[in-house]
Amino acid sequence: MVNINHLDVSYSDGHAALKQISFQIKQGETVGIVGSNGAGKSTLLKTMVGILKPKSGSIEIDGQLLSKQNLRVVREKVGVVFQNPEDQLFMSNVYDDIAFGLRNMGMDEKTIEEKITHTLKSLGIERMTNQNSSKLSGGEQRLVAIATVMVMEPSLVLFDEPTSFLDPKTRRKLIKLLKEYTVTKLIATHDLDMALELCDRIIILKEGQVFEQGNAKDLLSNQELMERADLELPFCLQRS
Ligand SMILES: Nc1ncnc2c1ncn2[C@@H]1O[C@H](COP(=O)(O)OP(=O)(O)OP(=O)(O)O)[C@@H](O)[C@H]1O
Ligand SMILES: [Mg+2]
Repeated sequence: MVNINHLDVSYSDGHAALKQISFQIKQGETVGIVGSNGAGKSTLLKTMVGILKPKSGSIEIDGQLLSKQNLRVVREKVGVVFQNPEDQLFMSNVYDDIAFGLRNMGMDEKTIEEKITHTLKSLGIERMTNQNSSKLSGGEQRLVAIATVMVMEPSLVLFDEPTSFLDPKTRRKLIKLLKEYTVTKLIATHDLDMALELCDRIIILKEGQVFEQGNAKDLLSNQELMERADLELPFCLQRS
């Protein structure tokens, strides 16, 4: 489903944010990207949807090599839930925000309405349909941002810090929802307890490089490895 080879990404100031990144994701897998602040998680997700251009290396998604020419085709397959929901919601109400992508595809309004109703229901947020997106709380906006992605029925969804700023109850709801959402997922997160619960595999980034990758439980429970990666064990595995 995803095949990344020797990816190098630098910012315009010359900072090499990703160095020789290689990994694969199989169809249906949930993979976590973990690493300390500045390790390159967000840079990786932005590069995978063509927001940032790699210096070298290749990204293949669902059999399509990401390039300027087929950016549109790849973008239809990949959904991103950004760290900041305000980057994703810009219409005056929730309905229009969720309809935006479908309208761009030229879909008729009746089908759009059916899809939106279905998506809002599956997220349990029907009551927000006519609300002003900018007036919702951060947690509510996160759910609407997920709805804007889900409604497009992508085959791969990238999440950047999906549980940040959520209260424990909303965080729990989101984890349940992600568990039930069986699409192929790549989740960048500092929430290692969530990674342990949701991910089949994790990729640990350190200073822009793949430090280690493998089975989520094996890696996340290895204290010595986690410390070398500038991380800690998930809370549920820490001894008090
Ligand atoms: N626009 C930019 N210009 C120059 N350097 C940048 C830019 N954005 C990020 N960087 C640098 O690239 C590196 C990786 O940043 P990135 O945001 O990908 O890290 P991250 O793993 O997502 O961190 P966090 O956990 O804090 O979200 C950092 O050293 C950062 O300072
Ligand atoms: Mg980040």
